[in-house]
Amino acid sequence: MRIAVITGASSGIGREFVKQIDASEKLDEIWLISRREDKLNQLAAELKNKARVIALDLLDSHSFEVYKEQLNDNTEVRYLVNASGFGYMGDWSEISNEDQMRMIDLNVKALVSMTNITIPYMKKGSMIIHMGSGSVFNPLPYFNIYASTKSFVRHYSRGLREELKSLGIHVTLICPGWVRTEFFDHTNSSNVRYSPKKYTPMTEPHDVVRVALKHAKRNKPLSIYGWFTKLQHVLGKLLPHSLIMCMWKGMLKENK
Ligand SMILES: NC(=O)c1ccc[n+]([C@@H]2O[C@H](COP(=O)([O-])OP(=O)(O)OC[C@H]3O[C@@H](n4cnc5c(N)ncnc54)[C@H](OP(=O)(O)O)[C@@H]3O)[C@@H](O)[C@H]2O)c1
Repeated sequence: MRIAVITGASSGIGREFVKQIDASEKLDEIWLISRREDKLNQLAAELKNKARVIALDLLDSHSFEVYKEQLNDNTEVRYLVNASGFGYMGDWSEISNEDQMRMIDLNVKALVSMTNITIPYMKKGSMIIHMGSGSVFNPLPYFNIYASTKSFVRHYSRGLREELKSLGIHVTLICPGWVRTEFFDHTNSSNVRYSPKKYTPMTEPHDVVRVALKHAKRNKPLSIYGWFTKLQHVLGKLLPHSLIMCMWKGMLKENK
């Protein structure tokens, strides 16, 4: 049974991956994972491929057992898209320790667990797609824990790609800048001292995912969408991080 597994499928970028993979591939099933079962069911009803809704909270370690139980010797995972994630803004004291740990648990630990569980069911040409961000290229004070989780994902994806090369499994890191999704409903940006003056340039999930899938199929290590994020990537290589952090702070406004 050839399948695609997509976390974060209930909204935004993950949802768009589901729709575009569904439109371009003939698979036996697409597995939709995230917490909101109603949204997953709605999406499942729109797909031409058969869908399996697996409503899971990836902050709950039992969820990985539930996921593992669905896989068997006949399963071939063609795509694993790890798109569940969130980011709180704020300095070290404005985000509770519990929320900082939740960000690390979802953006880092859940992503690694999903990947470790899935790899044994992948074959040559299978694709692992990880959501990074424009924040992977340098530290971002006041968005620090989020950016640090994404830096982990960057290094992890690059190293894993080398480990999986001999098996012919692709690993691609997706790095967009700001993307118009529900992400901003959860950033807590109005309750903190510093937040971005503007979220520009703002891009659309459809465009980010179209380019991401093209790059993943060509086995590119990195998919960067948008001129601004491409510039960030280059500057991250050329300039000291101290200077880039000054430039980032210049893009922030003081709220209180
Ligand atoms: N939007 C941006 O500007 C942007 C830029 C760069 C990178 N990214 C990254 O792209 C990825 C997708 O974000 P998005 O922009 O599409 O935001 P989004 O619309 O808020 O989607 C986040 C997804 O994560 C799922 N999720 C949240 N908590 C979860 C949990 N505990 N267990 C399982 N799933 C959970 C949500 O589903 P449920 O609520 O149903 O669980 C939702 O489907 C994230 O990793 C984000 O960091 C976003």
